[in-house]
Amino acid sequence: MDKVKINQYVSFSKVIQGFWRAQDWQWTPQQLNRYINELVERGITTMDHADIYGSYTCEGIFGEALKLSPQLRNQIEIVTKCGIVLPSSPDQTISGHRYDHSKAHIQHSVDRSLQQLNVDHLDSLLIHRPSPLMDPHEVTEALKTLVSEGKVKSFGVSNFNKSQYDLLSKCLVCDKLHITINQLEVSPYTLDAIENGNINHMYKDDVKIMSWSPMAGGKLFDLADEKAARIMAIVSPLAQKYNVTSNGIIMAWLDKHPATIMPVLGTHKIERIDQAIEGLKVTLTDQEWFDIYTASLGHDIP
Ligand SMILES: NC(=O)c1ccc[n+]([C@@H]2O[C@H](COP(=O)([O-])OP(=O)(O)OC[C@H]3O[C@@H](n4cnc5c(N)ncnc54)[C@H](OP(=O)(O)O)[C@@H]3O)[C@@H](O)[C@H]2O)c1
Repeated sequence: MDKVKINQYVSFSKVIQGFWRAQDWQWTPQQLNRYINELVERGITTMDHADIYGSYTCEGIFGEALKLSPQLRNQIEIVTKCGIVLPSSPDQTISGHRYDHSKAHIQHSVDRSLQQLNVDHLDSLLIHRPSPLMDPHEVTEALKTLVSEGKVKSFGVSNFNKSQYDLLSKCLVCDKLHITINQLEVSPYTLDAIENGNINHMYKDDVKIMSWSPMAGGKLFDLADEKAARIMAIVSPLAQKYNVTSNGIIMAWLDKHPATIMPVLGTHKIERIDQAIEGLKVTLTDQEWFDIYTASLGHDIP
């Protein structure tokens, strides 16, 4: 598995595992621990979280699994996110449903994530969603403190468009503080970040893309969905041609983009992880890439 350099302190695995759905898996800490070990054996060492996943439970579920083999911490990189407040917040002092990018909230959220995950630092902290009320100077202040305390090794954003990224990136200047990642929804099903120039804008600044829901959250496999059916009518024969699965072809499609796109997989089936990794050995032709692209668009290119 290739490693991608994020900054001078951390590198991430090219393929990342996401834990948004971890509560649904209903695994014991032992089962989750086994899965994490299986991922690491395959070179998937980067684990994506957010404070709010599973109504604020998923980080804790992961932390319990990590406790069973503390040496795992040195073999993995942990990414988490902050900045969204949900009504289900377990913190009595926080209520409502909004974005909160204040220094106090960011610091509070990171402290809770560290405690839940059972770790002493995060390899990356991402601001989960942009907020109209975001004060970039205040975010910078929060980050400076977290970096100086050794709690955060790199920094990024998620779901930020070009202007939101520009606003924040102007304030964050020192080596650990510049924006290294923008986590965006990207898949053959969801082309927005490709179409609106967001990915190009990140590529220009060497900001790595983590693609969330690279399999469109499973929607790509629902042939009752008209767009998915169009895409799969192209993907399935390619899977046969290259002797991989459809998941593998989707990985090859993402990997062909010249920017560094790091898929954040959400499956909890190790065989689907293997199928995805296998797909990275495939090099689609430009025509095959465009056939999937235009199937998604629903019309030919001009
Ligand atoms: N930054 C953000 O705003 C944001 C938003 C959403 C997600 N994320 C991150 O992205 C990660 C991945 O998101 P995701 O879970 O939506 O990723 P995904 O990999 O696109 O979707 C995973 C889902 O698709 C199913 N699936 C995969 N292959 C399949 C197949 N061949 N046939 C049928 N179903 C299949 C999986 O089921 P099985 O488990 O049964 O395989 C699982 O339910 C999350 O865990 C989170 O870390 C970030």
